[in-house]
Order: sequence, then C-alpha cells, then structure tokens
Amino acid sequence: MAAWRMSRSFLGSPLSVTEARRFVTTFLIGWPVVEAAELIVSELATNAIRHSATNRFGGRFHVMIHAQHDRVWLGVTDEGGSRSPRMLSPDEQQESGRGLLLVGALADSYGVRGDGNGRTVWAMLLVEPVATTPATPRAGSGASSA
Ligand SMILES: Nc1ncnc2c1ncn2[C@@H]1O[C@H](COP(=O)(O)OP(=O)(O)OP(=O)(O)O)[C@@H](O)[C@H]1O
Ligand SMILES: [Mg+2]
Repeated sequence: MAAWRMSRSFLGSPLSVTEARRFVTTFLIGWPVVEAAELIVSELATNAIRHSATNRFGGRFHVMIHAQHDRVWLGVTDEGGSRSPRMLSPDEQQESGRGLLLVGALADSYGVRGDGNGRTVWAMLLVEPVATTPATPRAGSGASSA
C-alpha cells in the first residue's frame, strides 16, 4: 500500500476538536488503529487549545496524518507558548493530567518537538499486518478431460 500524508489546520476553538476527530476518522476509516487515533487527536487538540498559544484570538492548530503500511503517525502542532507538554506524576493528577497518560498508553511511541514558537506533540501507532490465508483451489475446479 502506498504511503500517504494528510494535514489540515483548525481554529483554536473547542468546536474544532470534533472536526479534528472527524478529519482523522474520515481518512483512517477501515484502519485497525482508527479508534486509538481518534482518541489521541482528541486529547492533543484539546491540549493545544487549553494549554498553548493556540488559545489566543485567531490561534490555530494543525493535524497531520502520515500513514504507511505498518504504522500511522499523528501530529498536532500548536502555536507554542511558555508551557510545555509533560506527563503529570500520579501525585499531580487529580481532576486533570489524564490526557497525555492516555496518549502514552495508546501509542507505540510518542514525543514532543519544537519550542515556544510552536510545538508538535506526535504519536505513532503500529498497524498489525492483516493475516491472509492463501487461496486454495475448490474441489472440482480446473480443466476436465473426457
Ligand atoms: N500543547 C501543550 N502546550 C503546552 N503545555 C501542554 C500541552 N499539552 C499538555 N501540556 C501540559 O502538560 C500537562 C499534562 O497534559 P494532560 O493532557 O496530561 O493533562 P491536562 O490537559 O492538564 O488534563 P486532562 O487532559 O486530564 O483534561 C498539562 O497540564 C499542561 O501543563
Ligand atoms: Mg489534556
């Protein structure tokens, strides 16, 4: 299967989280990782809106999908700011701090790149190869001789 990339920019509004989820499910429909990808994008888009400069007036975030035969890479790029994404320790987690924990649990790997001008939080999901059974000829098929 040929690799492909898709990206889209969204306004930094809570309503955009639903749109970002739909963007991911539309392009990953039929992929075994579609549900995990949807949850991850939902958490990362929510974080971009809540914790980064994307929440300024006119702020935006970008979602990228890079699909290959054995993996799907997802990235959400925000507009940076003074805070950085970090997984909260169990002591710090009370009403919040579950988002990146969930991303870490769902993804095969994940990370952050960039700086105060814009950060990309990314997650990579491995795709299990689909088992295929070799076709067996049906009994009675083939040429017959009289
Ligand atoms: N895109 C981001 N930019 C800056 N800081 C971030 C970003 N994403 C997360 N963070 C920081 O990392 C912390 C942990 O993020 P996480 O998603 O785990 O928890 P939360 O967003 O605070 O709460 P929850 O996701 O449970 O509602 C956040 O509290 C915030 O300080
Ligand atoms: Mg969060």
